[in-house]
Amino acid sequence: MRSLPWSWYTDPEVERLEREHVFRRAWQYVGRAEAVADPGSYLATDAGGVPVVITRDEEGALRAFVNVCRHRGSVLVADGAGRRETLQCRYHAWTYRLDGTLRSAPRAEELETAGLTLVPATAALWGPLLFVNPAADAPPLADTLGDVPQRLADAGVDLARLRFHGRVEYELAANWKVACENYLECYHCPTAHPGFSALVDVRREAYRLEADGCVASQLGPLRAPAKTGRVAAGHFHFVWPNLKLNVYPGHPNLSVGPVLPAGPERCRGFLDYFFDPDADDAWVAELLELDDRVGHEDRELVEGVQRGVRAGAVPDGPLLPESERLIVWFQERVADALGSRFTSS
Ligand code: FES
Ligand SMILES: [Fe+2]
Repeated sequence: MRSLPWSWYTDPEVERLEREHVFRRAWQYVGRAEAVADPGSYLATDAGGVPVVITRDEEGALRAFVNVCRHRGSVLVADGAGRRETLQCRYHAWTYRLDGTLRSAPRAEELETAGLTLVPATAALWGPLLFVNPAADAPPLADTLGDVPQRLADAGVDLARLRFHGRVEYELAANWKVACENYLECYHCPTAHPGFSALVDVRREAYRLEADGCVASQLGPLRAPAKTGRVAAGHFHFVWPNLKLNVYPGHPNLSVGPVLPAGPERCRGFLDYFFDPDADDAWVAELLELDDRVGHEDRELVEGVQRGVRAGAVPDGPLLPESERLIVWFQERVADALGSRFTSS
């Protein structure tokens, strides 16, 4: 079993094709539903290379648009969240309503503006989590999430009960696929993550890897019975193409966030942390510290892979059919998405 050609981890043409064929119709977690709860609220962000703005219009409808002015193509609203009555472009002051229709444009008598509305995208909620898909005819979010909501519920994580703790952002000198693939195996855990491996049983016979539909899941039982809380195992779910959902053992908790391409050899991401109100501060601090340590360990690994593959001196490598089966699953999806549009040379 061979990996994808390593040239796919540096080639700008592959990055362009991924933007079009992987991310253009993919669901992205962007933040908390709370940000767009009230009429007049909005959230603007990047959804896998497409600027999007999500609004709650005056009628209370949740809407999403490509955040690009229909006039000359300026990004309409700066990234961030807040409240506003209209979306006004800073370039020539074309002004759109929160339902995407054009309300006014200076000197509009020179031009036929009827029918010019913002290009629609799709927004959806999963409990307190807000998702957007840059496509107007996106498949239902629930189809993409598959059994993840049920698995979290079964594990004792009630999303409605969790409280937001904070967001941690990061940037890595590595292709986004290197970061995803690193997430999708725990073959490296015994050597690279001693702290994590002391908590979670990462041996091949104990650690489960399962892929179904758009979801790849890793379930790591605890080494010793849980001292605190109700969650008995580590759950690490990956939703195609780029979303991580982590639940650590102990008190109910969730960290969720994407890995986004930022050029052929860079990626960036964030994790939003949520905790059960009963989780005590010391326990939360300990978990965040462990996760931060694992993050530093992984940074070294993925940036090391990028330095190696970019050299161009080695064409590809083998994948372990069992221990790296979720990478096989991921790479098959990447190859499918790019299809015959890209063949390595
Ligand atoms: S580009 Fe937005 S008003 Fe001209
Ligand atoms: Fe890791």
